[in-house]
Amino acid sequence: MRASLHALTAELKRLKASGVKSLPVSDASLAQLRSALAGRAGTRPAALTPPAVAAVPEVTPEAPAPYKAPERTFTVKPAAAPVPTIPAPVPFTLPAGDKPSRWAALRAHVLADEFCRAQVRPGKQVVFGVGSLDAKIMFVGEAPGAEEEVQGEPFVGPAGQLLNKMIGAMGLKRADVYIGNIMNWRPQMPVDASGVQYGNRPPSPPELAYCLPYLQAQIDVVNPALLVALGSTAASGLLGPGSFKALGEVRGHWKEFAGKPLMVTYHPSYILRNQSNQSKRLIWEDLLKVMERADLPISDKQRGFFL
Ligand code: URA
Repeated sequence: MRASLHALTAELKRLKASGVKSLPVSDASLAQLRSALAGRAGTRPAALTPPAVAAVPEVTPEAPAPYKAPERTFTVKPAAAPVPTIPAPVPFTLPAGDKPSRWAALRAHVLADEFCRAQVRPGKQVVFGVGSLDAKIMFVGEAPGAEEEVQGEPFVGPAGQLLNKMIGAMGLKRADVYIGNIMNWRPQMPVDASGVQYGNRPPSPPELAYCLPYLQAQIDVVNPALLVALGSTAASGLLGPGSFKALGEVRGHWKEFAGKPLMVTYHPSYILRNQSNQSKRLIWEDLLKVMERADLPISDKQRGFFL
């Protein structure tokens, strides 16, 4: 118990030093803390009767073990070296036919693209768009992350869970819309000694330029009524480099890409990092504009979400 209290103290101090002012503490955890402290001489359990959200306490530990980050040796595998010269995209002409056969041909072409395949590590996948080929709304994200390159599907990780909720709040299902990325592989970063990549980086302009024709071809096949760019990388990929300095300049405004109305909004990961009602409301206002433009019914309840 003593060691646990020291570890808890060290973690609270670390959180406090990183700016955390308060932490939610369950009643059960409080009861455990109280009984642990009651057993220690000189402690006053009564001081630990807080509201549901407890302020990070000033704790003076006897001898807290200093926090030591786990050691991790980073190496750069040959495949993870800075992205080589990016070739021009392999020309591809959509075949004639119905939507499913054109989409299937395009998907097969992208998944077989040797340059794309060379960018993914063994066991990982090139990622192509998914969803309804009759979707009115096409969401465009940045690039696959760790979960996406394993499953070979866009937005299946935490950001994807939130995107699904956003789509649900619009009265739709994930299968009703089309979801793609401007990049078809996870941009590479250095890997650790076991070959695992931690973290993501935005795609470089040449990487974007390589993949953009593939997104354009998906738009041509699906022919949605409108596009939604999720985050600044997707927005600048579609609007062109240097088209805005900060996302706030274009967020919530209708733009255009390939003749389609384009709404620019936040990336779901931004909302995961900024869980304030204000950011949620801003993204929701953008989605209300999308619903209006796509002629989706909007209830009073939906209009009031996050207010
Ligand atoms: N973020 C993206 O932009 N795309 C994904 O597919 C997953 C996370």
